[in-house]
Amino acid sequence: MTQELRFPDGFRWGAATAAYQIEGAATEDGRAPSIWDAFARTPGRVRLGHTGDVACDHYHRYREDVALMAELGLPTYRFSISWPRIKPDGGGPVNPRGLDFYDRLVDELLASGVEPMVTLYHWDLPQTLEELGGWTQRDTAFHFADLASAVHARLGDRVRTWTTLNEPWCSAFLGYAGGAHAPGRTEPGAAFVAAHHLLLAHGLAVQALREAGARELSITLNLSPVVGEGEAARRIDGLHNRLFLDPILRGSYPEDLLPVIDRFSGLEHVRQGDPAVIAAPIDLLGVNYYRPTWVNTTIGQPPNPAFPGSEGVGFAEPDLPRTAMDWAIAPEGLTDLLVRLHRDYPGTPLMITENGAAFEDDADRLVFLRDHLAAAHAAIAQGAPLTGYLVWSFLDNFEWAWGYAPRFGIVHVDYATQRRTPKESALWLRDVIRKNALT
Ligand code: FCB
Repeated sequence: MTQELRFPDGFRWGAATAAYQIEGAATEDGRAPSIWDAFARTPGRVRLGHTGDVACDHYHRYREDVALMAELGLPTYRFSISWPRIKPDGGGPVNPRGLDFYDRLVDELLASGVEPMVTLYHWDLPQTLEELGGWTQRDTAFHFADLASAVHARLGDRVRTWTTLNEPWCSAFLGYAGGAHAPGRTEPGAAFVAAHHLLLAHGLAVQALREAGARELSITLNLSPVVGEGEAARRIDGLHNRLFLDPILRGSYPEDLLPVIDRFSGLEHVRQGDPAVIAAPIDLLGVNYYRPTWVNTTIGQPPNPAFPGSEGVGFAEPDLPRTAMDWAIAPEGLTDLLVRLHRDYPGTPLMITENGAAFEDDADRLVFLRDHLAAAHAAIAQGAPLTGYLVWSFLDNFEWAWGYAPRFGIVHVDYATQRRTPKESALWLRDVIRKNALT
C-alpha cells in the first residue's frame, strides 16, 4: 500500500534563484559592480576564479527560463533584485533600465501563470557602498529602504509577496567575520554592527513598503537547528538563529547575547527606537533549511571565525551521508526547526523559501527532496503553519565562493552552450506539485 502525504490546500510550490547567481550581463544597461564582482575578481576568493559575469545568462534568456518554469508546472518563482542594476551608486538616482528588466520578467511570469516573489537583497551590495563601509554604516540601511521603495513603485501593482533580505546571517557573519563571502572582511565586531544594520534595513523597508500598500511582507532567514547540549548549544542557537528571530519577532535582542555583542562591538550602534523599527510586523517568515549545526563543548577548540562569541564551543561533524558541499544530510532537522518556530514564535506563517542540495547524481537530489518534503509534512502534522515550499534552485548556478562546480539546480545548465535540461528531480517535483501530495 502506498502512503500519500497531502499538503494543505493552497500550499505554495515553486523554485528560487538569486540575481548574481544566474543573471550575468554584469556590465549591461548601467549595472555597476557589486561586492560579489569585486570579491570574485580578488585572486583566491572564489574557486577557480569563477565570477558571475555571465552565469546562466538569465538576463538575456529569461523568456526561455520562464517558459521552462511553466512547462515544469512551477506555480511560484522567487528571484532577487540586483541593487547595482537599480541604483548603481547604491544611494543615488534610479537607473530605469535596471527596473525595466524586472518589469519585463514580472510580466513574462504573470503571462505564463507563474507568481513572482521578489527578494530585495540577496547579497549583492553595490561596491560603492562597501567602499563607504558597507553594512557597518547605518546609512546603508536607509539606502536599502529607498531601494525597496523604488522597486515597489515599479512592480508593486503586480507583485504580492516581498522579501526584504535573504539570510542576513550570511551577509553579516560570512561577509564581515568569517570572510568566506563578499566583502571578505574578518572583523568580528564589524559583523555584529552589520547584523544590526541589516535588521534595521529590514525594518525600514517593511515600514516603507507597508505604507506603499505592499500586501505580503517577509524576510528570509537561514535557520539551523542546533544539536547539542547546554551552554554550547544555547550560544550557537543564539548567534545563528535568535540574533535575528528575536529582534524581528519579539522586539528585542536575546538577553544572553547582549554581553557577547557588547564585548565585540559595544552597543552604541543600537539606537533608541531601532528595536521598534526592526519589529515592524511581517506576514510571513521565509525559512531556508539546509542542515543542522552540531556542537559539543570540547574545551580548547579554536573559535569558528564565522561565530565570534563561540569560544569554547566545538563544532562536531556527525557520521551521516553528505551532499557534494560536504553538508550532512538530516531531514529531521527541518521538522524540528519548523515545530520549534511554531512553538517559540507563534502566529507567523512560515514558508520554506530554500531547500535543496548539490549532487552530481540527480537521483540523490530526488531522494533528498522527497525526504525533506516528508519532514516538512511531519511538521505540518504537528501544527506548524507552513504555507509553501520553494526548491533551491531552479537552475544550476554560481554557488558563491564555490563557483560553478556544485550543482543545486533541478534544471541542468551546460555553461558552454547555456542549454537547459530539466533533471529527473524536476519532473518528479512537477508531479508532486500537480498532486499537492507526496506518494
Ligand atoms: C543559501 C543561499 C543561496 C544558495 C544556497 C545553496 O545560503 O541563500 O543563494 O547559495 O545557500
